[in-house]
Amino acid sequence: MKSLSKFDFQNIKSVGIRVDFNVPIDESFKVTDDTRLLRAIDTIKFIKEKKCKILLISHFGRPNDNFEIRYSFQNLIKQFSKILNENINLISYENFLQKGLVKFQQFEEIISLLDNIRFFKGEKTNDLSFSKSITDHLDLYINEAFSASHRSHASVNQMSKNITSLPGFNFEKEIIAINEIKNSSKKKLAIIGGSKVSTKINTLLSLTKSCSNIFIGGAMANNFLKFKDVPVGDSLLEEGSEKMIEEIYKLAKKSSCEIHLPLDIVTDKVEKYSIYKLSTASNFKILDLSDNSINLLDNLILKSEIVLWNGPMGMIENENFAHGSSKLASLLANCSSQVVIGGGDTLLAINIAGINFDQFHFVSTAGGAFLEALEDKHLPGVEALNLS
Ligand code: 3PG
Repeated sequence: MKSLSKFDFQNIKSVGIRVDFNVPIDESFKVTDDTRLLRAIDTIKFIKEKKCKILLISHFGRPNDNFEIRYSFQNLIKQFSKILNENINLISYENFLQKGLVKFQQFEEIISLLDNIRFFKGEKTNDLSFSKSITDHLDLYINEAFSASHRSHASVNQMSKNITSLPGFNFEKEIIAINEIKNSSKKKLAIIGGSKVSTKINTLLSLTKSCSNIFIGGAMANNFLKFKDVPVGDSLLEEGSEKMIEEIYKLAKKSSCEIHLPLDIVTDKVEKYSIYKLSTASNFKILDLSDNSINLLDNLILKSEIVLWNGPMGMIENENFAHGSSKLASLLANCSSQVVIGGGDTLLAINIAGINFDQFHFVSTAGGAFLEALEDKHLPGVEALNLS
């Protein structure tokens, strides 16, 4: 793979780094999880040591091709500077519209951040001339935003094609971790949660080909349990999921992949039930896994060399229903398998469990991009880097 560490920086003075600073914030614009910022530090510091000027580019939220104060980095730049421990100059929307990046080289600060790239027409349409209005002022382009690389947007796709481009250090790790799940011949287990079968069907179909075992948890499991004639009361269900589930079972059988479902659950009244006793319960919703399901997970983890976890096992926003995910996080943190974790809510589950990300082989900060990469889809951001 092309690597930043082996690149010759002779004559390289200005470097653009596409980062993903699309971080969660609260009502007062306080960053509530800085993982994505911290993941960009190694690449930023490396480029800084090469004595280059740095232009950081990122999206934030989903504004409509126009300036919207709530999506502006104006609200966040001070926090970013503090978290990254760098003095960062913000290139405002107006400034870029009027002057472009002409003065970029002369800024006093080594690091500049362009305001939300999605404010500019041409970003979401992957427009060549918009992309050139940025890359014409750069000598090297780095994509450190694997989590945005499923978008066919200018800063993720076209800019990398305009000039010499490379993956950032974290981007490289994301690719390696995903390739290990897809291509390694080691015995693999996928633990998939979350609420909708439809958002994960392609990932699940693809995983049946590479995994020996798949455990389905979260609200998604309600549909699978119902499919197996287990009463699920008033639990959240997805209309029309039967066909998708049928397809998953069919492909799993063909690939000798075993699908496992929860053996017992916790209801909205915080009562524990075996799935075989659910016919005796009334007016209930399934909101978490219970002890035997966790034991089953423990046994499956012990038998696996690589474990992938994506999606919470219960309604983690409520502490009464976060135990299943927390126990799973701690089993994974203490097992000897190579554990790869991905998806925004899964990271929240690990944080709730109070477990440090360092205890896992790799924790991806990507949501949609992580799932799409597992699906065998070609991601526009990865393709543009021409890694092979
Ligand atoms: C994410 O949060 O998954 C990435 O930043 C991509 O954001 P998007 O879904 O708005 O493209």
